[in-house]
Amino acid sequence: MHGKTLRKFPKKHVTCELTHHSIQSTAFFMYFFGNVTRFTMKITVIGAGNVGATAAQKIAYDELAHEVVLVDVIEDLPQGKSLDMFQAMPILGSDTRVIGTNTYEPTAGSDIVIMTAGLARKPGMSRDDLLFKNADIVQSCIERAYALSPNAFFIIVSNPLDVMTYVALKTTGLPRHKVIGMAGVLDTARYRTFIAMELGVSVEDITAFVLGGHGDTMVPLPRFTTVAGVPLAELMPQDRIDAIVKRTANGGAEIVSLLKTGSAYYAPSAAAVEMAECIIKDKRRILPCAVWLEGEYGLRDVVCGVPIILGKNGMERIFEIKLSADEQAALAKSADDVRSNIAKLTNV
Ligand SMILES: NC(=O)c1ccc[n+]([C@@H]2O[C@H](COP(=O)([O-])OP(=O)(O)OC[C@H]3O[C@@H](n4cnc5c(N)ncnc54)[C@H](O)[C@@H]3O)[C@@H](O)[C@H]2O)c1
Repeated sequence: MHGKTLRKFPKKHVTCELTHHSIQSTAFFMYFFGNVTRFTMKITVIGAGNVGATAAQKIAYDELAHEVVLVDVIEDLPQGKSLDMFQAMPILGSDTRVIGTNTYEPTAGSDIVIMTAGLARKPGMSRDDLLFKNADIVQSCIERAYALSPNAFFIIVSNPLDVMTYVALKTTGLPRHKVIGMAGVLDTARYRTFIAMELGVSVEDITAFVLGGHGDTMVPLPRFTTVAGVPLAELMPQDRIDAIVKRTANGGAEIVSLLKTGSAYYAPSAAAVEMAECIIKDKRRILPCAVWLEGEYGLRDVVCGVPIILGKNGMERIFEIKLSADEQAALAKSADDVRSNIAKLTNV
């Protein structure tokens, strides 16, 4: 089934980001009136599980949108969670409306769609099984959401992240600046947290990048990591930096082993909402995100995590930094991993 549906991907996609000015009406008004008008935003979150519900909650609490629509296949689940969230708004002083639904009609006209639906790996299920199952889920959800919100930006969270971002790109045929995967923001947040814990300083003062695919081959870059502007290597011995890099790469598994059931969701949902906020407020922050590459960093025809400028047009541009030979090799290896998983989908 997955093979058949995936082969139907339209061939067109991913080239014209800044050549066409598809600024939505909301973003257009924001351009002139600033953040005041962000309250007209409508955001859909697909998947009312741990990540999706927590993301919807944060959007509502932070009043980032006029309306958040939470979608899930489980009957009554999104309705129950969204009603509960909505009832918190009088206490929290937010006028965001939270709607739960099992159908896509209420999502129509969304400005941003955050895709979190998917299965977690179950006992006996291989990584490849999960890849195919989640590809089917992402394809069918994105197809339906895109049909009703053709101007939306898509932030992909479902795993395996880089491949699911590719599936969303192919499913919609949208240009690459509108379909962006969340992984680097989370991986970087984990890395910054571990450094702050080690040094006993504020997490806010750590600036860092983690590039590459979301997984064991991610590429933290200590050379570009600073603490209040001071290079990390001046503050910490190399063996401690190596230990933090290793812990970061293992960050998701560490949480899974502590939780016993389920995986991380507070930090992942915060990361996805940070990306949405950059688009809503046109912040133009430089954040590591998974995007389709067309030669940047020497990589082509693959989704991989690189620093991008994120603003009202989604990915405004890829921010290229000069990597050392070792860093470049690690990034290429990470991209190869993603490429081989994409090939599994397209070759069946
Ligand atoms: N990119 C990242 O860094 C990152 C971090 C954490 C989690 N994730 C991924 O995010 C996804 C969600 O994680 P979670 O912890 O919220 O899982 P979860 O199991 O709590 O929630 C997933 C939800 O998706 C729903 N769902 C399944 N199929 C659906 C469909 N066809 N349409 C609508 N909803 C559907 C399920 O009913 C469930 O409520 C997983 O794929 C997970 O691996 C990614």
